[in-house]
Amino acid sequence: MKHLVFLTGAGMSAESGISTFRDSNGLWEQYDVMEVASIEGWYRNPDLIQKFYNERRAQLNEVEPNEGHKMIASLEKSFKVTVVTQNVDDLHERAGSTQVIHLHGELTKACNESKTKVYEIGTKAIHPEDKAEDGSRLRPFIVWFGEAVPLIEKAAEVVSEADVVVIIGTSMQVYPAAGLIHYAKKDAPVYLIDPNPVDDSSFRVEIIKKKAGEGMAILLEKLI
Ligand code: OAD
Repeated sequence: MKHLVFLTGAGMSAESGISTFRDSNGLWEQYDVMEVASIEGWYRNPDLIQKFYNERRAQLNEVEPNEGHKMIASLEKSFKVTVVTQNVDDLHERAGSTQVIHLHGELTKACNESKTKVYEIGTKAIHPEDKAEDGSRLRPFIVWFGEAVPLIEKAAEVVSEADVVVIIGTSMQVYPAAGLIHYAKKDAPVYLIDPNPVDDSSFRVEIIKKKAGEGMAILLEKLI
């Protein structure tokens, strides 16, 4: 069975109504990324960070997987499919994908400060006084800037085994995720679905200049 690997970013969930980060009106125009998404920000102002992620988590109750998520999940009928996502939402899983690697963590989980203990919290808020079993503050299970990306090696291995790689909705600006494409086999086709220009100068790629849903429909015709 051919192995398809999808590398997805914020644009994957855009048609579900979740904001991207770097587009105009994106989250990083409204918030200072180093205040709400870095380990230094957590030490400086944990309440602001909790508020930011509590809002993102609550938003999961209002959004649904889009056609793009669903088409990726449907491919499991004919292929081995692994999704490596930078997204912290659960829309790939809710669409039915069974093999999802969340490089940057998951909104529906919390953890202790050393990240050794992880708790399922669904869409519930974390309150400033909430503590983990070890007495440390409960925090969102998110990989912030300045933190290690523990799943990157597993993701690199998966990409290196892929027969086809499909990149969807990521500006490829955040490392180490952006470097994963360099692990693809020399003869593995690489597709990139994005309605906007992406800097693809460092890797060979067939561009499908469409939003995730429409782009996936085109890709499906090529694959099946
Ligand atoms: P970005 O906001 O940097 O990039 C989003 C990409 O999605 C852009 O290339 C858009 O053109 C594209 N896009 C917009 N609408 C789309 C649609 N409907 N269909 C397909 N593509 C669309 O988001 P990421 O690359 O995911 O990390 O950002 C990477 C990381 O930076 C995030 O995981 C987050 C952020 O800081 C942390 O917070 C740690």
